[in-house]
Amino acid sequence: MNETIQHSLTYKKYVIDDNLRYFKPHSTKIEKTFADEIFSSLNRDSKYINPKFFYDKRGSSLFEKICDLPEYYPTRTEIEILKNLKSDLSQFLDDSFRLVELGSGSSTKTRLILDIFAKIQSSIEYFPIDISEILTESSELLQRDYPDLEITGIIDTYEGGLEFIEKYDDKKNLIIFLGSSFGNFTPKEGKIFLQKINSIMKNEDLFLIGLDLVKDKKILEDAYDDAQGITAQFNLNVLSRINDELDADFVLNDFKHIAKYNEKDQRVEMYLKSLVNQSIIISKANLSLKLTEGELIHTEHSHKYEISQIKELMDETGFNIKQNWLDVNNHYALTLVSKK
Ligand code: TRP
Repeated sequence: MNETIQHSLTYKKYVIDDNLRYFKPHSTKIEKTFADEIFSSLNRDSKYINPKFFYDKRGSSLFEKICDLPEYYPTRTEIEILKNLKSDLSQFLDDSFRLVELGSGSSTKTRLILDIFAKIQSSIEYFPIDISEILTESSELLQRDYPDLEITGIIDTYEGGLEFIEKYDDKKNLIIFLGSSFGNFTPKEGKIFLQKINSIMKNEDLFLIGLDLVKDKKILEDAYDDAQGITAQFNLNVLSRINDELDADFVLNDFKHIAKYNEKDQRVEMYLKSLVNQSIIISKANLSLKLTEGELIHTEHSHKYEISQIKELMDETGFNIKQNWLDVNNHYALTLVSKK
């Protein structure tokens, strides 16, 4: 079957104007509902809430606030490195690359890369991949400042979007995955994800990834437990979301946000700690949840890396490192790789 026909069978195309279109799968693979997922991740001894549920409207706006906090250095540091990149990155590019972004991310970062493209290309193609419809809003904002930008948004999982790109055409891709989101995968999931990216890349394609580095424990713990308590609100917000969407009766004051750096596993671990013995009804998940005083609900891990581990990881997953860029404090790394 011809690829174009195959695409139109799996994706519906929405044309907004000459420079903006979206692709969305006709039907997403049968996914578990929010209620099913919450039921199975809380109805067990080691309780867990998947961090993808953080990002409802309030969660997303709290996360934007986190990015501006004095203690949360990753966003600021990544932007600082990107601002210094310029010709250091453009030497690897030419006018036949398009920009592919995993996660629509903060548009500040996308813009910094687009500005680098603009120096070498007269018409730039940008393919954001995001599971959230928010992609449409950020694309329209981007269009205002880059009227000639050709945007093709793919509203799908990263895996789905990557397969879409693989089959799309022969143009070279610079794939970017910023914000140290990679650190939220377990090491095993992370490796599978890198292998997936590697498997869809052409020999000439490039991949740029942002990773947070191992550093002083106090700096790490403060970044995930700020003085104003915004990160605590962000973590606790997932319980409000369950209250609203699944008819539950969590009392937020009976929980405490915990962020601890686990030196052995090199990750900040985030939990919601039950402050009392309690029982919660989550009606729409058909669950009566019992928690003891001090019991932890795990919400997220954020893994930190040594440069030597980044090298090892890339080598094991089939990549050659082209270049590593660090900030002045060696807090954060941007790594550019190609296929081996
Ligand atoms: N990707 C972000 C990170 O690991 C997510 C994050 C930042 C986060 N602060 C948080 C997740 C607090 C949960 C709680 O840095």
